[in-house]
Amino acid sequence: MIQVRPRRLRTTPAMRRLVREVEVRPSQLVLPMFVAERRGDISSMPGVVRHDLDSLRAAAEDAVAAGVGALMLFGVPDDDAKDDRGSQGWAEDGILQRGLAAVRDAVGDETVVMADTCLDEFTSHGHCGFLTPDGRVDNDATLAAYASMAVAQARAGAHIVAPSGMMDGQVAAIRAGLDGEGFSDVGILAYGAKYASAFYGPFREAVSSSLDGDRRTYQQDPANRREGLREVRLDLAEGADLVMVKPAGSYLDVLADVAAVSDVPVAAYQVSGEYAMICAAAERGWLDLRATAQESVTAIVRAGADIVLTYWAKEMAQWCR
Ligand code: PBG
Repeated sequence: MIQVRPRRLRTTPAMRRLVREVEVRPSQLVLPMFVAERRGDISSMPGVVRHDLDSLRAAAEDAVAAGVGALMLFGVPDDDAKDDRGSQGWAEDGILQRGLAAVRDAVGDETVVMADTCLDEFTSHGHCGFLTPDGRVDNDATLAAYASMAVAQARAGAHIVAPSGMMDGQVAAIRAGLDGEGFSDVGILAYGAKYASAFYGPFREAVSSSLDGDRRTYQQDPANRREGLREVRLDLAEGADLVMVKPAGSYLDVLADVAAVSDVPVAAYQVSGEYAMICAAAERGWLDLRATAQESVTAIVRAGADIVLTYWAKEMAQWCR
């Protein structure tokens, strides 16, 4: 005679709803958006576009109306605007600064506007920082540029800056830069644990990356779990207001570790390759898009994310209704 029957709590939708441990809220979803001089499609990310300033504004308003919690902006400069230092990254009229200003003008304080603080979209070599004469990424020389970039983004209207370049000391350098220019209210979402991942593939198309090679001397080795905690602890000590784990789906162990020790909100980034895989399988009729997308984001929240960056943020917010 079986006395213990877990199935009792699964008998009806109402029963399952009652005992559900986590539920994805629209307000915890962040929509990554790309802004360029001209609108364009991204073939490896169906449904995601490079916006021009007008379509960016409209899309930001739509996302806010759908109830998403925040927007994360990436800038995509024209190729001839790139240089070896990535100076359009901190130029007042750089594409990302113009995008931030347009979005803040459209949505004000109705949502949280975030900016990617990294040079890779802006450098002619595609690396996230300055290069030494012999071609290595120069950590310390890059920090001042990140601080200038964060200040330019704050000036353009970013509520939060998000350093994603994995330079040592970047959070402290950006905090000092922001505070020195009177932006002590602008927060830092630190990419604490960011792995050198093959799942970023489609993003490189999205931002027309000039990278030839890889980022393994600054992003983390996918084999290392403990190191994720070390990176996050350093970011917390340097004053990060939020920390992030990236990618998300294949790094749920790292995410759970970070969620267990962090005393600030934890974000996770469901990256371009995670999105593209599900889209591609769904296009072939092999997976149900909506069900798979929702399950993937629910799993990220279950593992400990307070905030999820996902290219489905708007759709998912609408599905939640
Ligand atoms: C670097 C950056 C990358 C992504 C976000 N910020 C690319 C990289 O590190 O190579 C990837 C995001 C995605 O794949 O969706 N600025």
